[in-house]
Amino acid sequence: MVDDAHGMGCLGATGAGCLEHFGLGENQVPILMGTLGKAFGSYGAFVAGSEALIESLIQFARPYIYTTAIPPAVAAATRAALRLLQEEGERREHLHKLVQRFRAGAESLGLELWPSPSAIQPIIVGDDARALRLAEQLRERGYWVSAIRPPTVPEGTARLRVTLSAAHSEVQVDGLLDALQESWRVVGEAGV
Ligand SMILES: Cc1ncc(COP(=O)(O)O)c(C=O)c1O
Repeated sequence: MVDDAHGMGCLGATGAGCLEHFGLGENQVPILMGTLGKAFGSYGAFVAGSEALIESLIQFARPYIYTTAIPPAVAAATRAALRLLQEEGERREHLHKLVQRFRAGAESLGLELWPSPSAIQPIIVGDDARALRLAEQLRERGYWVSAIRPPTVPEGTARLRVTLSAAHSEVQVDGLLDALQESWRVVGEAGV
């Protein structure tokens, strides 16, 4: 099963997500879950799989049976977003350029990034308190970057989670890189 919350709409030549990016099909990934609240900017999620799987979920999944369905207006918003994702690939290209720009800049600052082609770029910090202080420094400079700490991630791998979007500009990415450099300097000087 793949939970493609962060790949759907962003990765793959047509934005179809991780399966398209990695060239995987139904045989390798019999259950695909996608969320609609991220690249789609809407709400909700879907599961794609065999007829037996989908029928079983419809018949037995309690949250599906006992919860009010997604309102039609939200479904319409998701369909409109799907059209944009399919027809306006330039948004995705712009996002990928921002990702590359950010990664090149962060690497030249000596920040530790893990390999990721996605819009989410984790900067590994290690220490929980230090990650919080860095996030605070960034916020003071006008950048909202969450500090993700255990138990969400393994002990000793606290990180700053940079999330880029097609709505960002190159100037904003450069501004973030400057703010990261400055925040690192300040927190480093504080002896953390
Ligand atoms: C990997 C992953 N799966 C699922 C979800 C849940 O998405 P939603 O908030 O639309 O229910 C998230 C939300 O951050 C996520 O990161």
